[in-house]
Amino acid sequence: MIPERLELHLRDGTPVVARPLTPDDRAYVAAGYRQLSPEARYQRFWVRDGEVIGDAMLNRLLAQQLPDHAIWTVFDPTREGFPGLGAASFWRSKSEPSDAEFSVSVLDADQGRGVGTLLLALLWLVAYRHGIATFTGYTMPENRAALRWMSDSGATGAWDGYNAVFRWQLRDLAAIPETAAGADLAERLAELAPAFL
Ligand SMILES: CC(C)(COP(=O)(O)OP(=O)(O)OC[C@H]1O[C@@H](n2cnc3c(N)ncnc32)[C@H](O)[C@@H]1OP(=O)(O)O)[C@@H](O)C(=O)NCCC(=O)NCCS
Repeated sequence: MIPERLELHLRDGTPVVARPLTPDDRAYVAAGYRQLSPEARYQRFWVRDGEVIGDAMLNRLLAQQLPDHAIWTVFDPTREGFPGLGAASFWRSKSEPSDAEFSVSVLDADQGRGVGTLLLALLWLVAYRHGIATFTGYTMPENRAALRWMSDSGATGAWDGYNAVFRWQLRDLAAIPETAAGADLAERLAELAPAFL
């Protein structure tokens, strides 16, 4: 069972809603893309060409469904204007079906509030439920916030010559370290597991 909507709280008490995105969410994703800073857009989408997301990218993000792809958002229903805080997705690898590529972006002003870790926990449980054993995340070596967060949340890193490649072991909860982000992740997994498993 994969829930369609979860009402949760950030650590600072902010009520948030988490839900999967569907093909009906094109306008929401396009608006979220416009909200990203050029730097965050590049860090997540690897493109430098403006605020408008292309149709091909929207199709790629929204058209495919489980068990090979999932995309979730976390939003603040009380926020005026665009309510989204961040989104994360995974794509199962065609050559190695027990692995999926994971990516996440959180709006600049909402980073450091636990949204990235919440999204990681949500996608972790969806992926685990569909037989995925590892998440692989790619990031640029200069993206220090992401590097620190990935390693603090239990991913082990390697360098492929261009990018840092991080891997989370979804079946090994003992590999989650006792960092702040690791503790946050472990707590979220425990809190959310009953809704997914
Ligand atoms: C990397 C990224 C996803 C992290 O998201 P985030 O929402 O900032 O992540 P969190 O808030 O869960 O964790 C970030 C840090 O804040 C800390 N934190 C979270 N909630 C906190 C709280 N309430 N009080 C104090 N610290 C807190 C975490 O412990 C973590 O610390 P660490 O990074 O030193 O380990 C985000 O920076 C981002 O979107 N970057 C741009 C896109 C990108 O680089 N994506 C990754 C490649 S796909």
